[in-house]
Amino acid sequence: MRGSASRSLANGARERAALVGLFSGSSRQFDPEHSLDELAGLAAAAGANVVLRVLQERRRPDPATFLGSGKIASLATACDEARVDVVIFDNELSPAQLRNIEEAVGVKVLDRTQLILDIFANRAKTREGKLQVELAQLKYLLPRLIGSAALSRLGGGIGTRGPGETKLETDRRRIRHRVSILSGEIDVVRRRRSQLRDRRHKTAVPTVALVGYTNAGKTTLFNTLTGEEAVASDALFVTLDPLVRKVKLPDRRELLVSDTVGFIERLPHSLVAAFRATLEEVAAADLLIHVIDAASPARERHMEAVRSVLLEVGAAPVPSIEVFNKCDRLDAGERARLQALYPGALCVSALRGDGREELIAAMEAHLALDTTIARLRFEPGDERIGLVYRLGRIFSHVASDGAVWIEAEVPRRVLPRLQSPARIEARGA
Ligand code: GTP
Repeated sequence: MRGSASRSLANGARERAALVGLFSGSSRQFDPEHSLDELAGLAAAAGANVVLRVLQERRRPDPATFLGSGKIASLATACDEARVDVVIFDNELSPAQLRNIEEAVGVKVLDRTQLILDIFANRAKTREGKLQVELAQLKYLLPRLIGSAALSRLGGGIGTRGPGETKLETDRRRIRHRVSILSGEIDVVRRRRSQLRDRRHKTAVPTVALVGYTNAGKTTLFNTLTGEEAVASDALFVTLDPLVRKVKLPDRRELLVSDTVGFIERLPHSLVAAFRATLEEVAAADLLIHVIDAASPARERHMEAVRSVLLEVGAAPVPSIEVFNKCDRLDAGERARLQALYPGALCVSALRGDGREELIAAMEAHLALDTTIARLRFEPGDERIGLVYRLGRIFSHVASDGAVWIEAEVPRRVLPRLQSPARIEARGA
């Protein structure tokens, strides 16, 4: 598990975590137990052992201590007994709440956003990802700086990594300065990324983005499709930055596949904003492959969470294929039920490579919707002949009268590039 060895206390032990959630009895859609399960997954991904779970039903949070005062007192006792190192709240806490709870329980307190930021900080692979996480961490810290006991957290463990370790004692002015430097650097990286994207669009290679709930198997499928060994891990969020690689289709055409950040339910809004640029790749793709862990009991909820993030980043109009992964974990009956529920969906096992060919065929079929058959004329040696061969399906190639005539099925969006000065006769879709 990438980076997980560092998710521990200074003495190398895994931190002992208490999880705390609040729910109001009237909220029907929200399942607090499920939400704590998910938080436990996140805590484990950050390197903690969950030793205590506390849920309180309450109409609204206490403005000072989030939980009621009696519950806070019993939480402090339970934490003491269970030798808890860190208390993780399933909700976002205000700076004052964080401070007050920390004082009452006497150990480090984190909220859900901080926990996710901590995981992101450890998983970011590219420079842009690292910059984005640091910026999000600093923006989160800024309003929590003045007079906060949380600032003197030293000694390692969850929530103290990243910019926190060296900057917790620095003043707001210095942090603001760093925020502005980071924003500038991110702008530069973003511009470069958008140029790269434009270049990809110009070469007209179709792009396919893998999206999905964290741990669904995107990276594994990415490797199966592209034949490359990116890091696959059982930990959540291994993929924080899109990786783009080429896939050769059986008919020699190429497409680009990108692996993207794993989605989660209730992804804090500040993080969606932080990763907007990364997720823009998804909105700019020609096709999305929504990878779903078919064996997860929370399958439907995860699918819904992914759809809502897609909506938020403007990717809802991009055509998508739903791919149920980990089908090796299903028995025949479960598979049949899944297929009855989702007749058009694909069942694959990225781990074993089962269903790879069907998936490639489905990608071809979806992308081929946008092709047209054309008869093209080039001067001999025209470099665009190579482009037609790379992107199109060739029916004939004839050299006569000092010209090259190619009949091919080509992506419609490449046609303008092939049009002048070469002649082109489109024959319809
Ligand atoms: P994030 O980066 O967290 O978003 O995860 P991801 O969606 O990229 O998932 P990843 O490919 O890292 O896989 C997560 C875990 O599921 C790993 O332990 C994989 O070995 C396992 N896994 C992936 N595909 C399959 C599969 O087809 N079958 C089974 N049984 N396990 C799989």
